[in-house]
Amino acid sequence: MLDINKIRADFPILSVKVNGKPLVYFDNGATSQKPQVVIDAIAKYYQEINANIHRGVHTLSQLATDAFEVSRGKIQQHINAKFPYEVIFTSGTTHSINAVANGFTSLLKAGDEVLVSALEHHSNIVPWQMLCERTGAILKVIPMNDQGELILSEYDNLLSNKTKIVTVNHISNALGTINPIKYMIEKAHQVGAAILIDGAQAVPHLKPNVQELDCDFYVFSGHKICGPTGTGILYGKEKWLRKLPPYQGGGEMIKEVTFEKTTYADLPHKFEAGTPNIAGGIVLGTAIDYMNEIGFENIAAYEHELLEYGTQKLLEIEGMKIFGTALEKTSVISFNIEGIHPYDIGTIIDNKGIAVRTGHHCAQPIMDFFKIPGTIRASFAFYNTKEEIDSMVDAIKKAKLMLL
Ligand code: ALA
Repeated sequence: MLDINKIRADFPILSVKVNGKPLVYFDNGATSQKPQVVIDAIAKYYQEINANIHRGVHTLSQLATDAFEVSRGKIQQHINAKFPYEVIFTSGTTHSINAVANGFTSLLKAGDEVLVSALEHHSNIVPWQMLCERTGAILKVIPMNDQGELILSEYDNLLSNKTKIVTVNHISNALGTINPIKYMIEKAHQVGAAILIDGAQAVPHLKPNVQELDCDFYVFSGHKICGPTGTGILYGKEKWLRKLPPYQGGGEMIKEVTFEKTTYADLPHKFEAGTPNIAGGIVLGTAIDYMNEIGFENIAAYEHELLEYGTQKLLEIEGMKIFGTALEKTSVISFNIEGIHPYDIGTIIDNKGIAVRTGHHCAQPIMDFFKIPGTIRASFAFYNTKEEIDSMVDAIKKAKLMLL
């Protein structure tokens, strides 16, 4: 059970007024809000231990290095990675996916196949298209049905010994579908393919267990789990991280440099060129601690209640169409109202302090599938309430009267 009032008090932004109205923040799929403990930890880092890491013998540098590595260990534990060096700090999910897709350049040849799902965010499509352009590999798409669920029989048919890597999100950002990744991982491995799971939309709602899943890569962003922007994680199995060449060259990722030849540093540093987002990396650990204190089982149960309540309330609006009605779904509702452009609803309800995302949600192929320009997306977090949902539904009803 969650004490919502107590939780809400942890988030200063939830008390601000937007356009003169109390903020109703339903754009959690885009980024989460930050609790005071995270905001304080950023200031504390800069006030007390700011220094570059892994470089100096001086005390501050060591304090900062220790804090950064403690955070890596927290993330390792959180996702149950076998070793801390399987956890690479990046700037976000996009960076993590690009690092893997680039790494595969030397491993693919013309005619090899890369499978992506029809449910992907652009960040899990474009880097693979670029990889295929570089190598002559072929991009194939795992299709979905009208509910926004992947068609697993088609997935099985697409897999072959030509498949070198499969990439799929754990949860769709546009529709909220929870994909059957355990099954997909097993099937990919049966044909000898690697598999990357984009966990950007999953980690705010559940705790992934990468060893149990047995995925080769699991990537996510810190800013969607109460952490700072510009933070992200690339988890990779040790054997893959050793096999892949580094994505970027620079300081920190080398063992020895001469003009003739450079040798690379050990994991995880081989993938962490340059000065990382030190404050962000450290505070991501604080954010994960905060969410674990609330407890992911509590979060998932409460958010499911919000999903069911929100779905039922929205369906009371005439002309309502919800996109994404998968059986396994998280607290994301994508919808349109007949005869109204999503952007118009978004703008009018913003005047009432209600923040939703409108548009294609960086998932144009999903919008093309449904033959729509975009949707209105309300994505709920554990600090939202049913009363806020009532306010949104009320505001939409009023907007509808103005627009139709
Ligand atoms: N990927 C983020 C979203 O779905 C930005 O809104």
